[in-house]
Amino acid sequence: MQALLLAGGLGTRLRPLTDDLPKPMAPLGNRPWLESLIVHLKREGVTRFVLAVKHFPEAIERHFGAGDRLGVEIRYAKEDVLLGTAGAIKNAEALLEDRFLVVNADVVHLIDVRKIIRHHHMRRAAVTIGLVEVEDPSAYGVVALDDAGRILRFVEKPRREEAPSRLINAGVYVMEKNVLDAIPAGREVSIERETFPALIESGLPVLGVRLSGYWMDMGTPERYRLAHWDLLDGKLSLPLLPPEKEPGVRIGRRVRLGRHIKLVPPVLVGDGAIVGDGAVIGPYAVIGDGARIGEGAHLTRTILWNGAVVAPECAITESILGDLTETGVGLTIAGAVIKLGRAARRALTARVPESPLADGIAETPFPEKAVARS
Ligand code: GTP
Repeated sequence: MQALLLAGGLGTRLRPLTDDLPKPMAPLGNRPWLESLIVHLKREGVTRFVLAVKHFPEAIERHFGAGDRLGVEIRYAKEDVLLGTAGAIKNAEALLEDRFLVVNADVVHLIDVRKIIRHHHMRRAAVTIGLVEVEDPSAYGVVALDDAGRILRFVEKPRREEAPSRLINAGVYVMEKNVLDAIPAGREVSIERETFPALIESGLPVLGVRLSGYWMDMGTPERYRLAHWDLLDGKLSLPLLPPEKEPGVRIGRRVRLGRHIKLVPPVLVGDGAIVGDGAVIGPYAVIGDGARIGEGAHLTRTILWNGAVVAPECAITESILGDLTETGVGLTIAGAVIKLGRAARRALTARVPESPLADGIAETPFPEKAVARS
């Protein structure tokens, strides 16, 4: 099976985290979400991938290359200008097989590939659109379906009381290649606003199938954070997470934990992280690989990306610190998103080791009584 992953959008709603990073490369549980997605899809039998890229494509190509490390084949369809969700599929046409899966790569969902393919095949659909039910559909593209599961129309961001259903487009599709004939080449085309309505209008079978399990579009800081808390709460389980040392406490490899620290579940501490004496971490904290937490620092409801440094005696809550950021001593930070500028990043990446495990740090034993339930 082949999958086309749409990963080229600007991610404007997740700025500044996406200023120089494609949104699907934002870490979820310390690994780029796009990597967890590819690993999951491989387990579901997808071995050939096309990545549709535009915004900082080099960040994706550098990380995945031709896919050898993950044991899959990856090819790239690059856009010179932003082509939109359907334009990006059209741009990849030469690389696509007769039938393929399309996934919005910023959607956090472990797709049941066999189920959606089976449905598509048995119903001889031109397109099968994965649907999820949400409490409040007013921020999404809502579908109206007939009794046979055929999509009649899309309603973009309806008022809650006017929504025809609570089923929304999940950003996961199976497509027949001839559908691409309906997409004009060389200009920006939206799949939700133009292509799907045009296909329905022309009478082609556009079907909906309900997806089950966890689903989250991580396109805003609130939802990005929520996806992390859901991960820590076990509502979402990712293939690449460190194991649990105790319920709700995930600790990576070669972690150094200081004396008299408190880990308040749920927490995740990444590979090679260093936690200073007396620090209190959690509830709800994700500490990136190679991150350092100074003595006496407190972190709650906070995400540190890889290599971030929190100075001693800081108190940080409801915040996201981008990779390699460093705080000053004793700061109180609440509700912040902090990200390195490009010049600072260039200077720092030159001296930070690629892997937090590369500099020979010895792991400390997991300290007794470190876990404090809130
Ligand atoms: P916002 O700017 O915050 O709306 O984010 P976005 O445009 O990056 O994402 P959106 O949720 O609108 O798009 C859904 C998925 O399609 C994301 O994974 C995007 O990376 C991807 N995408 C959106 N537009 C394009 C595009 O023009 N080209 C490619 N290759 N991918 C796109």
